[in-house]
Amino acid sequence: MKVAIIGSRGQLGQDLVKTAPSQLDLVTFTRGDFDITDRIDVFDFLAGEEKFDVVINTAAFHRTDQCEDEPEKAFLVNATGVKNLAEACDKANAILIHISTDYVFDGGKIKTKEPYYEDDAPNPVNIYGVSKLAGEYIVRNYLEKYYIVRSSSLYGVAGASGKGGNFPYTILKKAKAGEKLRVVDDMYMVPTHTFDLAQGIWRLLLERHPYGVYHITHEGYCTWYEFAVKILETVGLKADIEPVKHTAFPTRAKRPLWSVLGTRKGVKLPPWEEGLRRFVDMIN
Ligand SMILES: NC(=O)c1ccc[n+]([C@@H]2O[C@H](COP(=O)([O-])OP(=O)(O)OC[C@H]3O[C@@H](n4cnc5c(N)ncnc54)[C@H](OP(=O)(O)O)[C@@H]3O)[C@@H](O)[C@H]2O)c1
Repeated sequence: MKVAIIGSRGQLGQDLVKTAPSQLDLVTFTRGDFDITDRIDVFDFLAGEEKFDVVINTAAFHRTDQCEDEPEKAFLVNATGVKNLAEACDKANAILIHISTDYVFDGGKIKTKEPYYEDDAPNPVNIYGVSKLAGEYIVRNYLEKYYIVRSSSLYGVAGASGKGGNFPYTILKKAKAGEKLRVVDDMYMVPTHTFDLAQGIWRLLLERHPYGVYHITHEGYCTWYEFAVKILETVGLKADIEPVKHTAFPTRAKRPLWSVLGTRKGVKLPPWEEGLRRFVDMIN
């Protein structure tokens, strides 16, 4: 099976490459090879002479606050770029695996603290979420052979190139510099290690789950403060850390206070604490 990975230098992209089952024939693409917003290049690379059975799209414009200031760019990459990929996959008869986000939900389920499942109605509260949801609808409505994989709060050894790092690296850097940490304790999510997510994506494909929308995150949930405390504990670092409300850090984009994903189908990952232990072992 010949598989194209788009965004292969990103944190999820690198872990997809690392964890790819050996029977797959991988071809990796970075933004230097082509930009997904360039329709002609997308068709040349994905629906030209070289034929792919599967295309995995990890590319996105996902700086959430910047998306508020640059909505055109958010829609260009997260929706129009995805349309290019969907049409190229349609032409090449390839399966598209497209990565989406917990930010398609509004956080209203905080009242019951139940996870969001695949059949819950999305209602994004920021431009990033709206543009990613637009990308999802394009995939669903242009293709029959697709997997939309929603995940949340990603971190991996490579760090997100689109965000300039990730949460664990920021916490560790500040703690090592002896800085006081103030971390939001009223915003809940599922921190997800991209190494484990990548393995989940390969299983989804190779176990031939029915096409559709899937949530893949670790099990359980926590606040960003609880995640930070667990990072320090797992690494064995002491720091002065204070829980604060999200209102202590005003941001351009509104964010859901509860974006915990759950699933009753597809593949399951171990608890988030286990993903974090694996990450810490990898960076030590
Ligand atoms: N990070 C999170 O917390 C999070 C949470 C939920 C869902 N997601 C979704 O998960 C996916 C992967 O995230 P990630 O953290 O692995 O991101 P990442 O590290 O920023 O990787 C994305 C990769 O895509 C490339 N890229 C960006 N725009 C492109 C374009 N227009 N054309 C071609 N390539 C482009 C980037 O190249 P450059 O390095 O050259 O910019 C980068 O290598 C995204 O779809 C994101 O929306 C992320």
